Amino acid sequence: MSERYYTDMNSFKLASPSSTITKRIARKLAQFLQAPLTLALDGDLGAGKTTFVTGLVSGFKNGEKIRVQSPTFALARSYPTQPPLHHIDLYRISDAVMLDDLGIESLLFDPSAIVCVEWPSLYPGALPPKTLWISIQSKAKNKREIEFNFDASLFDWTSILKKLI
Ligand SMILES: Nc1ncnc2c1ncn2[C@@H]1O[C@H](COP(=O)(O)OP(=O)(O)OP(=O)(O)O)[C@@H](O)[C@H]1O
Ligand SMILES: [Mg+2]
Repeated sequence: MSERYYTDMNSFKLASPSSTITKRIARKLAQFLQAPLTLALDGDLGAGKTTFVTGLVSGFKNGEKIRVQSPTFALARSYPTQPPLHHIDLYRISDAVMLDDLGIESLLFDPSAIVCVEWPSLYPGALPPKTLWISIQSKAKNKREIEFNFDASLFDWTSILKKLI
């Protein structure tokens, strides 16, 4: 968190009691998203980042039948939704040079796509400025706190996020 700098930071928190609710929140969010946009998904192993992306994909046109798989080993997966969605995992990237070498940078800056990034805090400087930060924290076996952070000088998500409850 400390590496990030916001001029006008806003924060919004939601509680999720189950993976189904996390997917539902993400699915609802999808209808408000327009490319280009980055969603930076912070959270420990097993927090629910990929679960969130699963819900998101299902909320886009052509996404209902898509099965989202973790990009941890493939590093990145792209889905033919409308808008297209790139799902990137930075967990196994060992240095920033690799982002360019592996073609990840071109996915991050694809102007026509929604880009979801797991483990974004490993390379926060690599992300575009138009990023919605989403932090998922485990509170109990199935309970999660989903915190959204965004630069309100770029866009104000508050009214949209309130509709996800
Ligand atoms: N409220 C909840 N929200 C999201 N996932 C939940 C919740 N409760 C339980 N889970 C479970 O937690 C697990 C989350 O796994 P997921 O692969 O989404 O995590 P991840 O954050 O992507 O982990 P990794 O860093 O290993 O990629 C799933 O098994 C999911 O069913
Ligand atoms: Mg994951």
